[in-house]
Amino acid sequence: MKLTVVGGGSTYTPELVDGFARLRDTLPVEELVLVDPAADRLELVGGLARRILARQGHGGRVVTTSDLDAGVEGADAVLLQLRVGGQAARQQDETWPLDCGCVGQETTGAGGLAKALRTVPVVLDIAERVRRTSPDAWIIDFTNPVGIVTRALLQAGHRAVGLCNVAIGLQRRFAALLGVAPADVHLDHVGLNHLSWETGVRVGGPEGEDVLPKLLEEHGDTIAADLRLPRELLDRLGVVPSYYLRYYYAHDEVVRDQRGRPSRAEEVAAMEKELLRMYGDPALDEKPELLAKRGGAYYSEAAVDLAAALLGGAGSPYQVVNTYNRGTLPFLPDDAVIEVQAAVGATGDPRPLPVAAVDPLYAGLMANVTAYEDLALDAALRGGRERVFRALLAHPLIGQYAYADTLTDQLIAHNREHLAWA
Ligand code: G6P
Ligand code: MN
Repeated sequence: MKLTVVGGGSTYTPELVDGFARLRDTLPVEELVLVDPAADRLELVGGLARRILARQGHGGRVVTTSDLDAGVEGADAVLLQLRVGGQAARQQDETWPLDCGCVGQETTGAGGLAKALRTVPVVLDIAERVRRTSPDAWIIDFTNPVGIVTRALLQAGHRAVGLCNVAIGLQRRFAALLGVAPADVHLDHVGLNHLSWETGVRVGGPEGEDVLPKLLEEHGDTIAADLRLPRELLDRLGVVPSYYLRYYYAHDEVVRDQRGRPSRAEEVAAMEKELLRMYGDPALDEKPELLAKRGGAYYSEAAVDLAAALLGGAGSPYQVVNTYNRGTLPFLPDDAVIEVQAAVGATGDPRPLPVAAVDPLYAGLMANVTAYEDLALDAALRGGRERVFRALLAHPLIGQYAYADTLTDQLIAHNREHLAWA
């Protein structure tokens, strides 16, 4: 099996490689290709990737290249984990929205729109090249904003599935709190990427007993602390929102907090410098502890599980993925991309499991953000100041014309080099 990672020079890659090594029975990777335009990173990350596989007695070959076409040719699956503009662009996304009192975040709000506008054209170009060289390959998209990017891919007719580690992270957390194996925890996960709620926590599979009320009763303080939301709020909702909902439910508090401290991009840039220094040490042959300080916990497990299901039929039968709605959430258009449990297998596109009626408290926000994502994709595909403005005006965290106008100007000014039309 040949697997290609676009953005393979990411400091996250050792997490992925560690997963390939540990989970080789689920997903037998024979050739792992890391594609990245940054030759210096690629050399450091590729070297460590080879040492991780060797240490764990994995016979797979690691190839590094900056030639995308050669790298994706003949691949069974292509993982996209790139970041257009790197941490420097993220630093901007997290900073200028604060001037309008809006959250500065890489996927939520105006910063997320900037990221979408930079990213969608690049990802579509990569996907076209995958289609030319390996028409049967699955594209697994980790590239944020995953909802918008996945919709762009699906709309262009690609064989794509969007993936995020939020659900698997909660699954592991809840399993530990409940004292059961992670594979036994099935989440009733509903929403969009980075806008999701766990409305049930079932032990033993989709038909298992819902232990969410018990989980909240016994471990509500711990879960609330993880999410940095009040315990009382969780009790009133009776569901567990993902930590991205904090940007909505505690928006102004987050903005105050962000104004008084370095951005996440600055923290990550410092960590990346240190990580790359460590990766260059020929004695290092495992993923370093420091990597756990990044947000990508368990993303290798999620990737292996999904690739295994799509390619060979191994892996979990139900997984939380981003795919077309197709009537699953009746209050959203069929071609909206949603994040839900789906049956995944070698037979084709993931098929979302039925979802119980959604409380208007969550359905309303999902519908609003779906409309924003629709307009965001339109702006990413066709460009133009007015399309950017419309997306920002539609966003529930912005909504006022004066802010939307200012943020539009800021977005364009800070991203001119990445926007063909600006
Ligand atoms: C979580 C999200 C990812 C995001 C990451 C950021 O894992 O699901 O979509 O990219 O956090 O982590 P970072 O360490 O870069 O802040
Ligand atoms: Mn994510």
